[in-house]
Amino acid sequence: MSSSHTSERRYQSGFGNEYATEAVAGALPQGRNSPQRAPFDLYPELISGSAFTAPRHENRRSWLYRRQPSVVAGRYQPYAQPHWHTGGDRAIAVPPEPMRWHPSPLPANLADIDFVDGVHTMCANGDADAQQGVAAHIYMAGRSMERRAFVNADGEILFVPQQGRVVITSEMGVLEIKPGEIALVPRGVVFKVALPDGPSRGYLCENYGAQFRLPELGPIGSNGLANARDFQAPVAAYEHAEQDGKVAYELVKKFGGRFWTAPTSHSPFNVVAWHGNLSPVKYDTANFMTIGSISFDHPDPSIFTVLTSPSDTPGTANCDFVIFPPRWLVMEDTFRPPWYHRNVMSEFMGLVYGEYDAKPGGFKPGGASLHNAMVPHGPDEEAFDKASHADLKPQKLDNTLAFMFESRYRFIPTASALHSPSLDTDYADCWAGLKDQFKT
Ligand SMILES: [Fe+2]
Repeated sequence: MSSSHTSERRYQSGFGNEYATEAVAGALPQGRNSPQRAPFDLYPELISGSAFTAPRHENRRSWLYRRQPSVVAGRYQPYAQPHWHTGGDRAIAVPPEPMRWHPSPLPANLADIDFVDGVHTMCANGDADAQQGVAAHIYMAGRSMERRAFVNADGEILFVPQQGRVVITSEMGVLEIKPGEIALVPRGVVFKVALPDGPSRGYLCENYGAQFRLPELGPIGSNGLANARDFQAPVAAYEHAEQDGKVAYELVKKFGGRFWTAPTSHSPFNVVAWHGNLSPVKYDTANFMTIGSISFDHPDPSIFTVLTSPSDTPGTANCDFVIFPPRWLVMEDTFRPPWYHRNVMSEFMGLVYGEYDAKPGGFKPGGASLHNAMVPHGPDEEAFDKASHADLKPQKLDNTLAFMFESRYRFIPTASALHSPSLDTDYADCWAGLKDQFKT
């Protein structure tokens, strides 16, 4: 691949743009998508990320010009990936209380585990076939996929790396992200993952529902939060096909919650040029323009939404991806950490680095917490006490990045997450010391 080993990668800017890119000049047909013979005898192939008739502002598709069409593959056989679950398992009884997991230790055989085999589902909701809900996964892997490729027919995948860089080679080109950055790979786009730093861990949101998009800004106006120009899509890059007809790649496909594998005699990364508005993208959360109160109180955490997957009910997301990045706190006469609350929405949280202000001690990078619908939660005893007596001078919360996958659907932990040795069985104790201090 022309650019897979360079650290200076080239990108196109924007979110959902009409991107256009060619690795060989002249490879994109001009004025039409499917000429009788495409330039350089490439095969035109359309990938639709929305129904053909979706409204124009929702419509996503790209035209790929490739050495062989993706329909050329061997026969599929079942593939075992026992840790990756799809949708909520209603047979599991979910405790109606706050839950938290310490980071799992990286397995000793990590060097043998690649991204596909290293995904462990923490919790999920909805149903991929109903195109509703999300799964929250943690990946732990140490080996690059090399000649293995993966495609997910069940949903798009949002990458939130926590340890180690991730190089995503996709049909549209190569994206590289590091902790603090995120990437979004659309449903059905073939990709593979290389891990240049070896032992790697991170979070994934697998979204079965409507594609993530930038939230509406309302009275914020035409700028702010995640700005569209800061998203980056790859430029076209292709591999050379095998010469001797031997098996070139193994393609693993996730399809209806099941996994399948097929050999291919060519590389799936054979797209010489493409155009359209369906593409993987990356985003550096350091570019998030954070908005908060400059008087008193603080806004609802929805002010930190980077991307949203709407449901059929306005304002009630299938999933919001929300970050808690470095920011200044300047509010007067205000309890500055999050308030105690219950929420009809369900909240899965992770921590990329640093400390989360509501739980400075117990919530570790690489760990997770789950506060499901109407489960009360809030600052632990220590955070409450400190914030209630703090000198309210301007304060920078720095070197921290927590995030939340928030969904209208209750998250159901997997059996392995519920019985994991990493489950923090003492989590509730962090609120036990909050005494009645009512004084008349
Ligand atoms: Fe919350």
